[in-house]
Order: sequence, then structure tokens, then C-alpha cells
Amino acid sequence: MSGSIFKLSSIETFGDVAAEEDLVLDYFLFTNAVESISKGKSFLVLGRKGTGKTAIVRHFTERSQGRFSKALNLRGYPWNVHAQIVDHGASDIEAYVASWKYIVAVEISALVLSHPSVSLSIDAPLLRTFLIDNYGGTSPQLSDILRPKKLKLSKASFQPAIMGNQIGGIELSRTGKDHQLGLELSALTNAIMACVQKVIREAKISSLSLHFDELDQGLSRLDESRTKMLVGLILAVRELRIENKKSGSPIDLIVYLRSDIWEDMQFSDKNKISQGLSLSLEWNPESLLQLIEARIHAKTGSTLGWHGLIDEVLMRGSQSKWNHILARTFLRPRDVIRFLNTALITAKKRDTNAEKFTNKDIVKSRDEYSSYLKSELDDEIRPHWPYWDEALQACSAISTLTFDVEQFEREYKRRKSPKNETDFREALAYLYRFSVLGYEKRSGYGGRTWAFQYTDPEAGWDNAATQFKVHLGLKEYAKLREERQPY
Ligand SMILES: Nc1ncnc2c1ncn2[C@@H]1O[C@H](COP(=O)(O)OP(=O)(O)OP(=O)(O)O)[C@@H](O)[C@H]1O
Ligand SMILES: [Mg+2]
Repeated sequence: MSGSIFKLSSIETFGDVAAEEDLVLDYFLFTNAVESISKGKSFLVLGRKGTGKTAIVRHFTERSQGRFSKALNLRGYPWNVHAQIVDHGASDIEAYVASWKYIVAVEISALVLSHPSVSLSIDAPLLRTFLIDNYGGTSPQLSDILRPKKLKLSKASFQPAIMGNQIGGIELSRTGKDHQLGLELSALTNAIMACVQKVIREAKISSLSLHFDELDQGLSRLDESRTKMLVGLILAVRELRIENKKSGSPIDLIVYLRSDIWEDMQFSDKNKISQGLSLSLEWNPESLLQLIEARIHAKTGSTLGWHGLIDEVLMRGSQSKWNHILARTFLRPRDVIRFLNTALITAKKRDTNAEKFTNKDIVKSRDEYSSYLKSELDDEIRPHWPYWDEALQACSAISTLTFDVEQFEREYKRRKSPKNETDFREALAYLYRFSVLGYEKRSGYGGRTWAFQYTDPEAGWDNAATQFKVHLGLKEYAKLREERQPY
């Protein structure tokens, strides 16, 4: 399509803001993170909301390219059922590791059995019998794996032994603090996995992967039991990966988790996992531009890119439209897509045949975008701190984008409800952690910059900071003014 005919109004949308609903595979951007995951270096993929976890899961599971893979979505997972299956023989933080390893082993079995070349394997019937005996079919739902009261074991499936004693069956729902459950489940998991490895070798399967997504769905409060179950899954996957590696098996297991939830987890090997086995999804202005241009290209066929969609008039302060938009995001794909979708509607309202974005289109879109950003922050912050609204209201009451610590202390104390136990310093630290605000950092030669967590993570939180600035994306929602009114 040539530049002169091409019109902004011919684009319907820049895509859905959630990868589940988006045609993301039509314009998927193959980033370094994707490359690293495909090489099997990391098993834990961390990212804030809207950074592209589900997009990557869809890439790996729906576009197979010789891989045999499955997405395991924990949306609607019966966490309360799982919470009852406690391994009292393990340390508190490892109480769910054995049950997760069993669940993953069952999922791998089901995936292996669905592979087209498995009919060649003489060991596959054992797996098949085990699944049919316990779940009535060979592809049980993730949510049903821990539902049976008792797991049936037989000669035709598995009969693992503990210290020479064969187990006839495993009771999943036990009363009292039985210390055997973990041992029994582990023995069964080992037997299943040994069989899986044989089947994989016999059927010459070269690649298999499971991707665990949406661990945070429906999370309104990150309580201790939920945290322990999430830690359990991570530890279970790590152990299985180590065992798979030892046996030279091509199974890859990857967990996708919101970084704010990871930050709140505490367990002894966390550092080790952070150092070498996890990967953070990060974007910058260039990669975000590539992401948007891939969409423009897929939707219009035009190779003009972003500059084909805008008039070239600079915004206030000689800022480009792109920079003006990015300054209102947390450099996450969802934020940019959301802003542009709103701007598109605004432009079409101005002129149904709008050819290019004008500065007014961008400015007029900020109100709606700002409300979106607030609701994304609700999803992120509330599980950690349900009263964060009180802190944002304090910022609104101050009414300027920048403020000092005394102003915040005064306004926050006025609004703090009795149940909210977070004092004003902690409140500021929380707001900083989610980049709702940045603090003033003085540089050597009398200059000053605003340190925000999302752009300058190395700066870290400064508990002695005295000047703060609210993120521009919240300016409209919180009704803030640029500068102090002249006295
Ligand atoms: N690599 C990519 N290529 C193209 N589009 C992407 C890519 N990564 C993310 N996106 C797009 O960004 C938006 C947000 O991504 P996604 O829904 O995957 O985020 P998420 O991390 O799963 O968020 P949440 O934690 O809320 O589930 C979607 O529209 C998605 O299609
Ligand atoms: Mg997602």
C-alpha cells in the first residue's frame, strides 16, 4: 500500500490488550527472551502484568515448529482442594512439592501419550492404564488430578515400593498429620517418570514442553497458603528439570509468574533461581516500537511503520508523539497497545476518515488511558496491600505531580483507615516498588533526576528521599497538575 493512500482509519484496532484474545501469533515479536527460553536456559519467566507472558506461552504452544508442547493454565485451578494435600513429612515451605511433582508427572504422561509416534512404545500401556484407572481417560483436566480420594495402583500400571513394601494405593485425602503422603507420592512420581523416559526413548520423541501460566488468576490476596503452593510448584518444576537433565530427557518445563508475586516469596533457594534460572521480561522504546510496527505491518500491509500514522508536529516541549505516549506507560506492551487503541477511537471520532494521529488525538486519549493504568495497578498492588487507594488519594489531595515528604505524610495520615497498618514511609516504598512514583536523586553537579523503579532499577529505594514525582500515566486519574501554582 503506498503512503498516500494509506489511512489511519483503515486500522480497526492495534490488537487486544490480553494475549488470550489477541491475534498475537500474526505479529509475534521474537525477542531475546523468547530465544533464551527456547534454548532451555531458564525455567522461570518473570514479568509484570502485561509484559507478554501469555503471548510467549501461545507462541510456544500454538506454533509448534517441531516442538510438542502444552500450555497449562491455572485460571480456575482449585487451589482450595490442593491446599488440603499437605506433605507433613516435608518442611513447611516444601509441603506442596511432592503433590506438584505428581501433578506435573501426570501432565507429562498425558502429553507423551498424545504424541503420534507413541504407539511404537511397549511401555506406553502402563501409563495409559494408570491414567484410565484414576481419571477415566488419558487426558485428565489439570483441575482434576488431585480430586480422587484414592489413587489406584495395580500390576498393569505401577506398584512402587517404599523400603521394600509395595504400595497398593495412595489415599489423597487424609485426616491428621500423616507423614507418609509425600513419600508415597514421590515413589509413584518416580515410577511414572521412569516409565515416561522409556516411552520417550522408544518413540524417539525429541522435544516436549509444558508451560504453566496464569498462576495469579483470581488472586485477591496473596496469603501464606497460596504463596506456599506457588513456591511448591516452582520447586517441583526445578527438581523435575534436574532429574530430566540427568536422564538426558528432552522435557522442558517452564513457569510464567508475575514479578510482584515472585518478589514476595521467601525460601532458601530463591537466590539461586534468581541468579541463573529465571528470566525477566523487559522492554525498551526500540523493542516496543518494533512490536507496534509489526502490528501496523500485519494489519495494513504498509511498510511505512509508525511514522506513516502520525503528522510530524511535535508536542509540547518538542516531544515526539511516541515519547509522549511512552512516558505514560511502564514500558509494557499492554500499556502501549491500550494507549494507541484509545487514540485510534479518538482520531476516528474527530474524522471517520482520519489519515494520521494529531497531537490533540494523543492528548485527548490520556483520560481514558489513565483510568486503565489505575485499574491495572489495582490488580497488581491489591494482593499485597489492599489499601493502596488511600495513598493515591493522598497524592490527589496534594494535587501536584511533584511533592515533598511532609506533604505526603500529612495527607496520607488524614486518609489512612484503621485497618491499614502501612505507615507513610512504607506507603511511599510500596508506591515506588510499583513505579507509581519516583524519588528525586541528586547527581554530582547539582543536577537532579527522578529515579523510577521501572526505568532505573539499580537506583533502589532511598528511605531518606524527600521529593517525589507521581508517574505521568496517573496524572489524569489522580487529577494532578504539572507544577506548583505560583504563590
Ligand atoms: N512478543 C510479543 N509479540 C507481540 N505482541 C506481544 C508480545 N508480548 C506481548 N505482546 C502483546 O502485549 C499484550 C500483553 O501481553 P500478555 O497478555 O501476554 O501479558 P501477560 O504478561 O500475560 O499479562 P498478565 O500478567 O496480565 O496475564 C498482548 O496484547 C500481547 O499480544
Ligand atoms: Mg497473561
